[in-house]
Amino acid sequence: MFESLERMPPDAILKLIAEYGNDPRDNKVDLGVGVYRDAAGNTPVFRAIKNAEQRLLDMQTSKSYLGSRGATDFCDAIQALVFGDNARHNDRVMTLQTPGGSGALRVAAGVILRANSDTTIWVSDPTWNNHVPLLGSAGVKLESYPYYDSAQNELRFDAMLDVLNKVPSGDIWLLHGCCHNPTGMDLSTGQWDEIIHVIAERGLLPFIDLAYQGFSDSLDEDAYGVRAMFDRVPEMIVAASCSKNFGLYRERTGSLTFVSSNADTTAIVSSQALNIVRTMYSLPPDHGGAAVTMILNDADLRNEWLAELNDMRKRMKEMRTIIVAGLGKKVPERDFSHIERANGMFSYLGVSPDQVAQLKQEYGIYLVDSGRINVCGITSDNVEYLCASIAAVL
Ligand code: LMR
Repeated sequence: MFESLERMPPDAILKLIAEYGNDPRDNKVDLGVGVYRDAAGNTPVFRAIKNAEQRLLDMQTSKSYLGSRGATDFCDAIQALVFGDNARHNDRVMTLQTPGGSGALRVAAGVILRANSDTTIWVSDPTWNNHVPLLGSAGVKLESYPYYDSAQNELRFDAMLDVLNKVPSGDIWLLHGCCHNPTGMDLSTGQWDEIIHVIAERGLLPFIDLAYQGFSDSLDEDAYGVRAMFDRVPEMIVAASCSKNFGLYRERTGSLTFVSSNADTTAIVSSQALNIVRTMYSLPPDHGGAAVTMILNDADLRNEWLAELNDMRKRMKEMRTIIVAGLGKKVPERDFSHIERANGMFSYLGVSPDQVAQLKQEYGIYLVDSGRINVCGITSDNVEYLCASIAAVL
């Protein structure tokens, strides 16, 4: 039977992990997959997570099944983190724990299909390279809207609004909550307000993917779009990830929140989501979520986590500054200032797929074919080499 199958190409981002790992060169640089790296190039476990895990080890008395929704105390804590106080005790809002942000996206796609299989999800052009495969393989129809002009390195806001004003009512508009992947270029608060106004007026369903809360300005500022949207629309979907802001990548910790116009509808949506979970993976993994809950509900652990998040944010901003300065010296005829204006981990470098291949083969510098870089791979030790190599291929 298996002879009938054809080989699938590897995922463009995940394949870089193995390629980089197998590269024997000492001076190799990983600007590929979206994981945080410290100044020594490591992706350490947060100290707050280690401490929470230690307490869990001492205190946990059972690993028996939880329900398909996961741990309710995790759902409450993460809902407060994402929505602030606005959603507290609001029976229009239901959050479930999911295997990472990807799991949340997949369950959301299932619910959307059951609600209306004719609806279209509009994704930004460009978007995270797994949005279309993940949502598309669930069977949802997808279209893209203009988001970023990679020649000018700026948002195509007017073109985006133009499409938003024309898509059929009832369609779904997927937005990145902050730290847009792959460009790092986010909507300003004023632009969020304009988008929210049109979405509310036109009866579209907003779907926000919040994978980097805390990586741009602060936990609250990075949730501006989610919270302002929540105040204005009757229905919305939010997928949130703890992979980056708690460093829990492989623990698969995330959440999915549905907001609907009344408590009865929310109860129905929940029952559909839980049915999808039960028939797909039964229930989410617990460990990462248990550590997150402990951190969010304990003042000392929370402060420790916030301080770590603060340091990470500072480092990402500093690396943006030093690479822009370095490239300015090596390639003075080009403007790289957009890298400093972007948020979170990613920016477009402005190199072609051939130049990406050359950077990899000749210099051991790994980035995604689109020219997306993860600024966490930059250090004060490798920035000179990086800039000289980029200048050479340009
Ligand atoms: C990325 O964009 O590199 C990360 O979100 C990791 C992934 O799963 O693609």
